[in-house]
Amino acid sequence: MEVVIVQNSEQGSEIAANIIKSQLTKKSRSVLGLATGQTPLLLYKRLIEMNKSDEVNFSKVTTFNLDEYLGLSASNEDSYAYYMRENFFKSVNIDLDQAFLLDGMTTDVERECNEYEYKIKKCGGIDLQVLGLGREGHIGFNEPTSSLTSRTRLKTLTPQTMEDNKIYFKDATHRPFHVLTMGIGTIMESQHILLMAYGEAKAQAIVETVEGPITAMVPASILQMHNKVTVIVDEAAAAKLSKIDYYKWVYENKPHWQRP
Ligand code: F6R
Repeated sequence: MEVVIVQNSEQGSEIAANIIKSQLTKKSRSVLGLATGQTPLLLYKRLIEMNKSDEVNFSKVTTFNLDEYLGLSASNEDSYAYYMRENFFKSVNIDLDQAFLLDGMTTDVERECNEYEYKIKKCGGIDLQVLGLGREGHIGFNEPTSSLTSRTRLKTLTPQTMEDNKIYFKDATHRPFHVLTMGIGTIMESQHILLMAYGEAKAQAIVETVEGPITAMVPASILQMHNKVTVIVDEAAAAKLSKIDYYKWVYENKPHWQRP
């Protein structure tokens, strides 16, 4: 696991955008796994700029989002489909037929989830998966006690996640607590995983993810078992790590050929 400690989310998003750019330069038909929420917003902004200046080209890219609220349609402003359209897809040259999200309006959850898994496999699997981190260590919406080998399925949000996400809802009267999410096993099959976390609210989850024991109580801790994970954190999110100097030293001395 590579831990990159940055000054702020602007710097972190720049590094993340360059990792994506380098992935697309190597493989124009890359499959990207995407996240929503506050964390990747600046990354999407930076990628939009890079797309406008022809530094990155999304025309052959396929994307799969991590999760969606059950019961929200793609036109609902609180859905992740809407978020993706507004914050990213509408501003880049992506083929929208190749930008996949789970259907929050499905009447057959099991079928929808199995088909999503099938589509990911059919596209050759995810090359690069972007992740945010929940305060209790969730990735996607795999909440504590999720099976570490789980596949795409329905999950029930914890009260903590409901509380953390309530600020994002425009319609406070309808905040679903059932979601469809890629499983942890699904995420772990990605070739490269890029986890970002900013702010002190994420410090505990980060130390448990990076340095804690692997446990279903902190789903992100399973990333310790993956052979290519980049964790980008600001100083506040890194504050509880015991080896901050070591992580910084490793990154400063990273061979140039390993850099994006
Ligand atoms: C979103 C997702 C979640 C978020 C996490 C952090 O698609 O899968 O795991 O990444 O809840 O959310 P923010 O970035 O809003 O703090």
